[in-house]
Amino acid sequence: MIQVAVLGYGTVGSGVVEVIEHNNAEVSKNAGEEVHVKYILDLRDFPGDPYEDKVVHDFNLIIKDQEVSVICEVMGGVGAAYQFTKQALEAGKSVCTSNKELVAKHGVELLAIAAEKNCNYMFEASVGGGIPIIRSIQNALTPEKIEAVTGILNGTTNYILSKMEREGADYGEVLKQAQALGYAERNPEADVEGHDACRKIAILASLITGKYVDAEKIYTEGITGITREDFEFARAAGMTIKLLAQARLEEDGSVLAMVAPHMLSKEHSLAMVNDVFNGIFVTGNMLGDAMFYGHGAGKLPTASAVVADVIDCIRNQGRTMQSPWEETGIRLADVAQTRKKFYVRIKASERGRIDEVFPGSSIIEAIDHKEAVGFFTPEMCEQELDEKCALLKESILSTIRVL
Ligand code: HSE
Repeated sequence: MIQVAVLGYGTVGSGVVEVIEHNNAEVSKNAGEEVHVKYILDLRDFPGDPYEDKVVHDFNLIIKDQEVSVICEVMGGVGAAYQFTKQALEAGKSVCTSNKELVAKHGVELLAIAAEKNCNYMFEASVGGGIPIIRSIQNALTPEKIEAVTGILNGTTNYILSKMEREGADYGEVLKQAQALGYAERNPEADVEGHDACRKIAILASLITGKYVDAEKIYTEGITGITREDFEFARAAGMTIKLLAQARLEEDGSVLAMVAPHMLSKEHSLAMVNDVFNGIFVTGNMLGDAMFYGHGAGKLPTASAVVADVIDCIRNQGRTMQSPWEETGIRLADVAQTRKKFYVRIKASERGRIDEVFPGSSIIEAIDHKEAVGFFTPEMCEQELDEKCALLKESILSTIRVL
């Protein structure tokens, strides 16, 4: 019998207990041993909860219990979660987590401890919720040199952008509705400013390179500047706008990693990923393109991914499955020097200057807007775009990268 401890009895924690107990036949059969939750660590009590007798408040009880071999850290944050994870791994207990902040910040150290102690630090649920993207990269795609990963990795912003597109609504208005429905946090910064997606792409970038990519060094832009007008122009051009997180191996050996809104064709597979869903487009040098799609958040999808890791840990007791990340050696590409096309929206009064400042651009003629004109530039580097935009200064209303 395998005894599991769950740290944090919030949304994901209660989901983990539910998956293990409700699907116990499947979980135990696939693990090859009977699996049960022995402890739930939380500061609170849960009177009336079916698992209230498992709730404890002292982590020492768990760490000292030889019967507990796998711990699910679903409490979040990088304080106590970090300390508990470290202690657990040092004690040879495997840890499975949904905590992307902790993986992105301390993954190198925690993976190294796991390797030293012949246990595992698993984080399938930290990226893409219930979508098995990490397992796929680490198992199914192992013959591949993964050249690029491009994903819609944040459900909150995808919900907001999908609704703006569908309803022609303003960002602020949709954000309020998303908050009322519980899709966006009261403080939405981590989602709308792109930080959540940034941590997730940092993890994927580290996985495809085997080297630690520091989330704090990744260029990150959120969706707060996207307007209803941008969607009007996108629609007229047969396109849509998505917050994309990208990690791409460059020819010079560097890695381009960034999070930013992009305009992309409505025909692109990622354009069809709507509402709170996530989608991850992976390009391998042999495989070509593959896309992963599903619930990127939510209690049970995320919990299911945590429990999949628990099962893997049980199947591989005494053996570390992942390679540690090298701490040095990654060179991030300078985003300012990367080349792409851009959508630019300027005041209609400056239409006559488009040819002079942005030669070779194509104006989006399908929309007759009184105040603004939108166009696509030819491919140029970001720095060049900034220099050109400086020439039109206050007339620039918006610029968005084109995928
Ligand atoms: N806030 C995150 C999202 C939750 O909206 O995708 C899952 O990581």
